[in-house]
Amino acid sequence: MPELVRLTQHGDVAVITIDNPPVNALSPGVPEGIDAAVSEAAADARVRAIVVIGAGSTFIAGADIREFGKIVAGERPKLTLLPYLLTIEDSPKPVVMAIHGQALGGGLEVAMAGHYRVLAPKAQVGQPEVKLGIIPGAAGTQRLPRLAGVVKALEMCAEGNPIGALEAMSLGIADKLIEGDLLEGAVEFAHTVADKPAPKTRERNEKLKGVPAAVFQVAREQARRKARGMRAPLAAIDAIEAATQLDFFAGCEEEARLFNECLFSTEAQAMIHVFFGERAVAKIPGLPKDVKPIEIRRAAVIGAGTMGGGIAMNYANAGIPVIVKETTQEALDRGIGIIRGNYAKTVAKGKLSQEALDQRMALMTPQLTYDGFEQADIITEAVFENMAVKKQIFAELDEIAKPDAILASNTSTLDIDEIAAATSRPATVIGTHFFSPANVMKLLEVVRGKASSPQAIATAMGLGKKLGKVAVLAGNCHGFIGNRMVAPYFREAYFLLEEGASVEAVNRALYDFGMAMGPLAVDDLAGLDIGWAIRKERAAYAKPGVRVPLVADRLCEQGRFGQKSGRGWSKYDESRKASADPETAALIETVARAAGMKRRSISSEELVDRCVYALINEGARVLADGIALRAVDIDITYIYGYGFPAWRGGPMFYADTVGLPKVLARIEEFKKTHGADLWEPAPLLKRLVAEGKRFKDLDQQKEGRG
Ligand code: CAA
Repeated sequence: MPELVRLTQHGDVAVITIDNPPVNALSPGVPEGIDAAVSEAAADARVRAIVVIGAGSTFIAGADIREFGKIVAGERPKLTLLPYLLTIEDSPKPVVMAIHGQALGGGLEVAMAGHYRVLAPKAQVGQPEVKLGIIPGAAGTQRLPRLAGVVKALEMCAEGNPIGALEAMSLGIADKLIEGDLLEGAVEFAHTVADKPAPKTRERNEKLKGVPAAVFQVAREQARRKARGMRAPLAAIDAIEAATQLDFFAGCEEEARLFNECLFSTEAQAMIHVFFGERAVAKIPGLPKDVKPIEIRRAAVIGAGTMGGGIAMNYANAGIPVIVKETTQEALDRGIGIIRGNYAKTVAKGKLSQEALDQRMALMTPQLTYDGFEQADIITEAVFENMAVKKQIFAELDEIAKPDAILASNTSTLDIDEIAAATSRPATVIGTHFFSPANVMKLLEVVRGKASSPQAIATAMGLGKKLGKVAVLAGNCHGFIGNRMVAPYFREAYFLLEEGASVEAVNRALYDFGMAMGPLAVDDLAGLDIGWAIRKERAAYAKPGVRVPLVADRLCEQGRFGQKSGRGWSKYDESRKASADPETAALIETVARAAGMKRRSISSEELVDRCVYALINEGARVLADGIALRAVDIDITYIYGYGFPAWRGGPMFYADTVGLPKVLARIEEFKKTHGADLWEPAPLLKRLVAEGKRFKDLDQQKEGRG
């Protein structure tokens, strides 16, 4: 095995190279290696200065996140970096940190213990720990405000976003930008500071003085808003406030206390589960390793409506030329107008340049014909949910697309095999289900048909990455992973209204649970007519005598389709601000009483449990049916596609944290009251409870780790 840390000599400068692929995480052995190398170099009379650099594509991506799980599980790997960082900071010879790629978390903490930092122009530095539900644990909250100032340190530690090299320079985190060879530049810089007193970050207290209390107050208010429900951002703010009140070492102790409090929280376990989950979903068991995805150079999209337009924007954003086809000039003009308007809003916010807008629009070719489709590597159909129309389109594509082009459907519910059967090449047909707004939402649900080839699957999964999304592979059934599970979630929200809860109470309970929006607010945003059309189509499959929601259809019959018609479950003003609608409340009550239902007061706990446990129970079936590969695939689907709070880890992880026996008992209770047709516990859930296992254990078993 190659050495994790190497010490070499470049004239009178010692170079310490960290080499722990893929990202030079601070795994056991790395901090010790740095410590030993610094001590050795410091003691070497030939050495006048020291450079620390990362091998491969990055400096240091932080602590080894896998170690955190071990600690929580009761193992005690040595984690604390602090003493090693003091060895660096107390080195009598100046230590220059040479940063390319990323210096994140513990990586930035190591860098800040050095006396100088030189950065490659594309380098990024950051304290992303809150994204794992924790805070910096090696004096990051104490050293960063000393370099960058309290306000910026609060933002970086509480929000977790990295900053670029130029900003790091302007803030005082970095001392020099190095164009060209980083090591050469760093060694040259080291010569200029050799033999001079080395400034210790922990002693630089100027930027900590005179910070008004209001700064922390504002940071806390922002954290409560931007990271609703999370503890870690608030803990990070507390730790930085401590830096302004205590000396460095006492501040470190306070940071350690807060770090430990976070590390052992369910929030951290959930966020770490999501970090690895995001990467796990890209791994498809059984997909041959040598399968080559098709390179996507040109794309075409059929439909310039809300979804088609958003999908076309994705391609253009990724620099891929895209044809956008509609059936009428009017629809085409409207669609392209909306795309331009969306980009213009981003320009107005200062997040995109006018030049970039022009470039993206130039990548789009709006047209009414199939001209040029024969050159497309992927064609995405995004017309409305109607099987006959989709089959017609795929039959036409079969005639014109090149033989290996991927024919993708954006269907959100329909049978991908039936669509594929309209072509003579079902192996190239696959579902790529985007979520609205498609240019914003991070999830791409890839739906594999029974004939989809490994190449089609690999291409669609790779497409997700190329478009900056997280792709999850789903099997083919009505609604796939996401919409199949959401059906019982909405069903319960509707039932609760009929049983006595108000629209506002249902929305509020689920919002407070952490969902991005309450279910009825989502319904109003998506358009109630969508669910109405699906219910009509699915009515033929309904089991006689089983309760169905009554009020949603009645609202639609009155033309109340949600935000787009100004009224749905709630009322909306011109700026689409919602308020309670007494007419909806009256309608719900009338319909419920006419159906002989007893109205009652319902606790928020029941509102949440009914909706979320319906999701979990269906999730267990989705898993047992092989529609989702792993429980974590469901979690990632729900976090990135449906606004489930990441800090709860997704629905299946949440069920694990509640305890599956407790979840099962509650579902049994609901079954007693509402009947087995709606609430029969999923056999997989019962099996796991009987075996004393969690969904997570099931995933680990599949990976061969359980
Ligand atoms: N620990 C362990 N494994 C890590 C890791 C870390 N800090 N960072 C990345 N990895 C692993 C990933 O899991 C992935 O493994 P697989 O290939 O087995 O899936 C592999 O490294 C490559 O990572 P990515 O696929 O994410 O590669 P990328 O090039 O897209 O992104 C990155 C690279 C920007 C560094 C990204 O991996 C990242 O953001 N990593 C996490 C950084 C972070 O959160 N650091 C803080 C850690 S906590 C801390 O440091 C606490 C403290 O104060 C001491």
